[in-house]
Amino acid sequence: MQWDAARYASEAAFVPQLAASLVDLLAPLPGEHILDVGCGDGALTAQIAARGCQVLGIDSSPEQLQLARARGLQVALLDAHALPYASAFDGVLSNAALHWMLDPARVLAGIWQALKPGGRLVAEMGGAGNIARIVAALNTALGRRDIDPAPLNPWYFPSPGQYAALLEAQGYTVRSLQFFERPTPFKTDVGNWLTLMAVPFLNALPDDATRRAVIDEVREALRAPLLDAHGVWQLDYVRLRLVAVKASDAQR
Ligand code: BEZ
Repeated sequence: MQWDAARYASEAAFVPQLAASLVDLLAPLPGEHILDVGCGDGALTAQIAARGCQVLGIDSSPEQLQLARARGLQVALLDAHALPYASAFDGVLSNAALHWMLDPARVLAGIWQALKPGGRLVAEMGGAGNIARIVAALNTALGRRDIDPAPLNPWYFPSPGQYAALLEAQGYTVRSLQFFERPTPFKTDVGNWLTLMAVPFLNALPDDATRRAVIDEVREALRAPLLDAHGVWQLDYVRLRLVAVKASDAQR
């Protein structure tokens, strides 16, 4: 997906802000080698670098990486389904990125390869039920226009059980797996969120007029459940937050 990286940085600054505690969970030590999978504009990568680590951010969006590079970060343009690293990192962090990757077993295998024995994966992603109302409203609006939305959906939101099974099948030891609702305030109009994030759905529509009509319909469908009494959109985010270890023989 092509990102409007500048708009993402201004409208979606909440994404790294809400996950700042993920860096504490990773607890990176000075000198450690850390990989940030789906680093986006590098907001969390920079926090890891500030702790004295050798951190590499990877992302599949050149637009986002340009912003990360501008922060002076070391980055690489890579699809996380094809990580080229072997026993190179003490830790891997990923925030709000794994749910964009539709072959999770392959991604987890690549991260496993990239970790040193004893290394840890700390991640947060959308879990089962994430943005369910938004997806339902998009599905309805596209269905009304005889477009099947299922193949357009770019997201994977697993249940804790599904993700734990994937992690364990790869060999990880799951240290913690939290699953929680986190209604997330979006400071402007929900239509902006759709324009920024729901690109595959909107691109399936024939023209700008239809896109505007769909956005209007989705906004109306979401008004009652998601617009709060202060006029702020509270997006129906559900998070999966995990710590998993590539346990060395000594740790088993
Ligand atoms: C999320 O962080 O849950 C998310 C962000 C954009 C699109 C879908 C989900």
